[in-house]
Amino acid sequence: MHHITLIGDSRANPAALRRQLAGTLEINFVSLEEALRAQPGLETVVDINLQDDARLPLLKEWLGRKPAHAKAIFITDKTSHLQQTRAVALGATDVLYRPLDTRALLGKLWGDVSTLSADPANAAIRKEPAVAAAVDTLKNIFASACMGEPLNSAAVESAGGAVVSHVEAKGLAAWIDTVRTHHSMTYQHCLLVTGLAVAFGQKLGVSKADRQRLSFAGMLHDIGKARIPLSILEKPGRLDADEMAVMRNHPQYGLDALGTVPGLPAEMLDMVVHHHEYLDGSGYPHGLHASEIADLVRMITIADVFGALIERRSYKPPLSGAAAYQILLDMGPKLDKDLVREFKPVAQLGLAA
Ligand SMILES: [Fe+2]
Ligand SMILES: [Fe+2]
Repeated sequence: MHHITLIGDSRANPAALRRQLAGTLEINFVSLEEALRAQPGLETVVDINLQDDARLPLLKEWLGRKPAHAKAIFITDKTSHLQQTRAVALGATDVLYRPLDTRALLGKLWGDVSTLSADPANAAIRKEPAVAAAVDTLKNIFASACMGEPLNSAAVESAGGAVVSHVEAKGLAAWIDTVRTHHSMTYQHCLLVTGLAVAFGQKLGVSKADRQRLSFAGMLHDIGKARIPLSILEKPGRLDADEMAVMRNHPQYGLDALGTVPGLPAEMLDMVVHHHEYLDGSGYPHGLHASEIADLVRMITIADVFGALIERRSYKPPLSGAAAYQILLDMGPKLDKDLVREFKPVAQLGLAA
């Protein structure tokens, strides 16, 4: 679960806020004294009296020590210009008003996920109904995951089915060509992995039901990224060590978001939480070893790594299919060698794109 610290005084109502954010955020309520004894974390909400508190200079000094990308969101009275000015002077990165709107809080913490798909220039995607349907579904499931709302699994299944049909009818290269035009790196990546996983399943001759499962997992594997701040998620450059540490929480956040959805198969949740595990134990979040990693997870991991390598990024040109495949080979004991060999024709299809 995602943890944040809320510094509150006697007026704060922890129980009500916990209820509103159940399933989305775990809030650690502390007094200002308790907060000042620890180091500031990445996400702090401050809901205290800013009118005349003698401890405010201490709070300012404390917030000055927060990590570079950390958020400090202050809650103030909407009518009090003094409180808002003070909040900014103390180091607020954002200001919200009482009574606290939890949607607004999540928006400040993680960014507005609806902006991920608002791109009028995506004409190529709009022309392809299967791609457009998959983008719409991604938009909805990311928004649901972000707000702790239930996921529409029927919509994911039908969009996944559309991906399977599209890849079977028009080929992987056409799919990759179109989805690489999406401006959001996150959606582009999920769509690429979905197409690659489906084509991989097709190559291995798995059942139609398994291809559906692979498409479902391709769409959902990174759903935990809905809870990663957009400034990190869509950063037009490489992530630094702190940002990478935040990003590495996404498999667990994905499991948190999906854990409340009834009827999801265990294999699906396994793929979501373990797609960054490697056979040699060097992956995350659990450092699993080969015997603990299921075949479907191994397949999604290969599609995921390859998808990331051939993506269009603002700071690097996409790798060719051949160059990306060579990197899979170079990863040696991390990936399943037999599956990597079977993936070669899929990578070559990607090469044509
Ligand atoms: Fe991931
Ligand atoms: Fe991924």
